[in-house]
Amino acid sequence: MNEITRDVVIVGAGAAGLTAANELKRAGLSVAVLEARDRVGGRLWTDVIDGAMLEIGGQWISPDQEALTETIAELGLQTFSRHRDGDSVYIGPDGTLSRFTGDVFPVAPETERVIAEITERLDAMVAEIDPDRPWAHEKAAQWDTISWDAWLRSQTDDDEAVRNLAFATGSAMLTKPTHAFSLLQSLLMAASAGSYSNLVDADFILDKRVVGGLQQVPLLLAERLGDDVFLGQPVRTIEHTDTGVTAIAEGMTVRARYAVLALAPNLYDRISYVPPMPRLRHQLHQHLSMGFVVKVHAVYDRPFWRDQGLSGTAFSPYELSHEAYDNTNHGDERGTLVGFVSDRNADDVFRVSAQERKERILESLSHYFGPEAKNPIVYYESDWGSEEWTRGAYAASFDLGGLHRYGADLREPVGPIHFAASDLAGAGYQHVDGAIRMGRLAAANIVAEARA
Ligand code: FDA
Repeated sequence: MNEITRDVVIVGAGAAGLTAANELKRAGLSVAVLEARDRVGGRLWTDVIDGAMLEIGGQWISPDQEALTETIAELGLQTFSRHRDGDSVYIGPDGTLSRFTGDVFPVAPETERVIAEITERLDAMVAEIDPDRPWAHEKAAQWDTISWDAWLRSQTDDDEAVRNLAFATGSAMLTKPTHAFSLLQSLLMAASAGSYSNLVDADFILDKRVVGGLQQVPLLLAERLGDDVFLGQPVRTIEHTDTGVTAIAEGMTVRARYAVLALAPNLYDRISYVPPMPRLRHQLHQHLSMGFVVKVHAVYDRPFWRDQGLSGTAFSPYELSHEAYDNTNHGDERGTLVGFVSDRNADDVFRVSAQERKERILESLSHYFGPEAKNPIVYYESDWGSEEWTRGAYAASFDLGGLHRYGADLREPVGPIHFAASDLAGAGYQHVDGAIRMGRLAAANIVAEARA
């Protein structure tokens, strides 16, 4: 068994772990990054499928995501804007398709008024929330013990308004049914992007992409670490005392003064801790779970929807693919649509055969873009639910009541063991930006401790 000694062992080579490792190295500490998979990047994965480059995981960057923007600039990567010229489409409860521009869905005037009023209310509540400490709000307990769905339904009887308001933090972000998480969790999601209005503004939240793919961020960060990154090394056991840790992976052991657990929090309990984690940690971990969304890629020989004056942006809380976008690669003649099938719908489509799933999903895309959508030259489903080292998408969130109960302990180290993942972030929560912020924070805390 290969045994090495370092100042810090980092478990997980996603954006958080690789950021932490680079920061620690820059501060003069030696590191080893142990990664379970045979590649770096975790939930960032750019691959070529049947000749088409696809962003299987995370891809978009919004203008408020300063940590990610800085990293992209520092690594010398170029960005490009999502194609958004033309009309967006919306499908209402009776299946009627309407074209629109801007971020206000073409619903009946009364529904539009209700949506605008509740959005204003939500923006005011979000403005009171510190995304790094949502549990500190005086109404945290109250807002964390009512579900997002129940709160919305207490504001209006207009079902279409509820579905459209629910969607921004529900199917589109936390990817759990709206009865499964709290109003506070929803406010955190919005606060992490600056406001509820920002979150529903696709032009803001899904603004730019990286030319050549966002996985280049972890790939280039890993390159800087050279031989300090070890692939195919799932960590099974962490032994720890007040003064050090031993991380035991399948093929090697690392002895270090500190550890950074940079894996998605739903996977913490796959590692055995000797001695066991404190009682509160055992409990906390059990209340964090992954959402689930299938990201669907359909590549066509040309972006045919643009001929019809469509932008490729589409929404409907009544459709299997509740949202879709033009996801054509930079400089590509072919056109790519990306659609998303979330939570209960995602469960359902995996109960049928692959062929039927594909047909159902393409049928849904054709409701937005016409029959041509049914015949892509490349079709691919990103299914993170079946990935052993992720087990869902996009990220983990607390169950009802968990955020105010355990949130304050989320980022607290356990002796020499520190935590970093996008799922623990305030600003940039569930996004790559948050992963980088959490990697920086864990590194800064370790550097401060090491120098004390
Ligand atoms: P991440 O999960 O990436 O890394 C953890 C690493 O730990 C993994 O490499 C894993 O293999 C490893 N690991 C786990 N257990 C281990 C063990 N026991 N031993 C060793 N290694 C272990 N974000 C965004 O900003 N814009 C977007 O457009 C999107 N879109 C999007 C789409 C899809 C389909 C997904 C799945 C995700 C997104 N996201 C996103 C979210 C974003 O990709 C995500 O939040 C970050 O990449 C997470 O980075 P982390 O480093 O925190 O975890």
